[in-house]
Amino acid sequence: MKRNPTASCPGDKLFQQTRSLVYWRQIPMRPLSVAALPAAHSPVASRKGRASLAAPPAAVPPAVGRWLLACSGAVAGAVVLGGVTRLTESGLSMVDWHLVKEMKPPRTQQEWEAEFQKYQQFPEFKILNHDMTLTEFKFIWYMEYSHRMWGRVVGLAYILPAIYFWRRGWLNRPMKGCVLALCGLVCFQGLLGWYMVKSGLEEKPDSYDIPRVSQYRLAAHLGSALVLYSASLWTGLSLLLPRHKLPETHQLIRLRQFAHGTTALIFLTALSGAFVAGLDAGLVYNSFPKMGERWIPDDLLAFSPMLRNIFENPTTVQFDHRILGISSFAAVAALFLFSRRIPLPRRTRMAVTSLLAVACVQVGLGVSTLLLYVPTPLAATHQSGSLALLSTALWLMSELRRVPK
Ligand code: HEM
Repeated sequence: MKRNPTASCPGDKLFQQTRSLVYWRQIPMRPLSVAALPAAHSPVASRKGRASLAAPPAAVPPAVGRWLLACSGAVAGAVVLGGVTRLTESGLSMVDWHLVKEMKPPRTQQEWEAEFQKYQQFPEFKILNHDMTLTEFKFIWYMEYSHRMWGRVVGLAYILPAIYFWRRGWLNRPMKGCVLALCGLVCFQGLLGWYMVKSGLEEKPDSYDIPRVSQYRLAAHLGSALVLYSASLWTGLSLLLPRHKLPETHQLIRLRQFAHGTTALIFLTALSGAFVAGLDAGLVYNSFPKMGERWIPDDLLAFSPMLRNIFENPTTVQFDHRILGISSFAAVAALFLFSRRIPLPRRTRMAVTSLLAVACVQVGLGVSTLLLYVPTPLAATHQSGSLALLSTALWLMSELRRVPK
């Protein structure tokens, strides 16, 4: 018998047994409220007297939820590895893409020299790394290789179990659609990665700038990874965490809307971070809170037409990321204060408090990254922090889910 970690009393055991039977027989079931059980058996109701837990939508075994959580962890690993690959300037070392052939790394000295020679035909070597040795090349090559191989592992982690669960009949109709979309997104993610790398391999005859990938494609690659991560985590949490049956007061509805808005703002801030990273905009104005001597720098709208500044002017991109970062923090702090006025179950309160704590750390990391001129370990931690913040916000949203009537 599979046990839910939140189940701790005899009433919950009964509740679990009922659910498991329903899972395995594939009978669609209305969410079951623990309020239906004697009050003393409901973990939340017994403590607070007003909230209770209801079962997640049935007919999908918990193993599917656990698989999706593991997949979101694998995507998080790929995001972190991708960030470190970019920060160590290793992302343009593999100059072609083969799904299967490139899985075997060069072995002999001759193969390594041939690979190095291929790299030497491209702008990054010609402009930036013309004095690079073969040993140095091997380091950046292995960084990029590990990111690409991890991407393949992530792809398999989605696709193989999806086939297994599908064939065993463990997925209901909505879950089938969801799993298909996630598998499609993971394949799309790989293609976007190569599309991004290609932009850094092109010769740009009129440019004296160091070769780098397009910030638009970097943002698309990071953005779609964040969507994949969030969708997997959200679905996994929805399958595993029982809903709280909270009274639908006006304040609770506002808190739920506030949590949704804050999560969207955090997502937007993370996406704007990709533009900062793509333009190396963390290296202009390394002061805080002012930018140089001013609150609003002179060159904020230096590019024309004006709209170009938002995505192409490093000063504006950094300015926007600061504003979004601070606004996200302010939204989280306001959400925390607002939530204090509402009686909430212990686990929900933990989610709100954790969100505030992670937001403090994330802003601290962002400011330190800026003041210290973007050192690799700190910048990589700041990037991982954005995943932690997004995850905590999604956890809170999941805690506040409405119980369907
Ligand atoms: C809620 C708050 C924030 C979130 C979610 C967030 C998220 C991100 C993300 C996802 C990146 C891209 C990292 C990469 O792809 O390597 C980034 C980059 C950056 N962020 Fe933030 N950020 C936040 C707040 C801040 C603040 C307040 C500052 C400073 C004032 C800041 C400074 C930077 C800098 C300098 C970079 C560029 C690092 C690099 O080049 O790798 N961030 N941020």
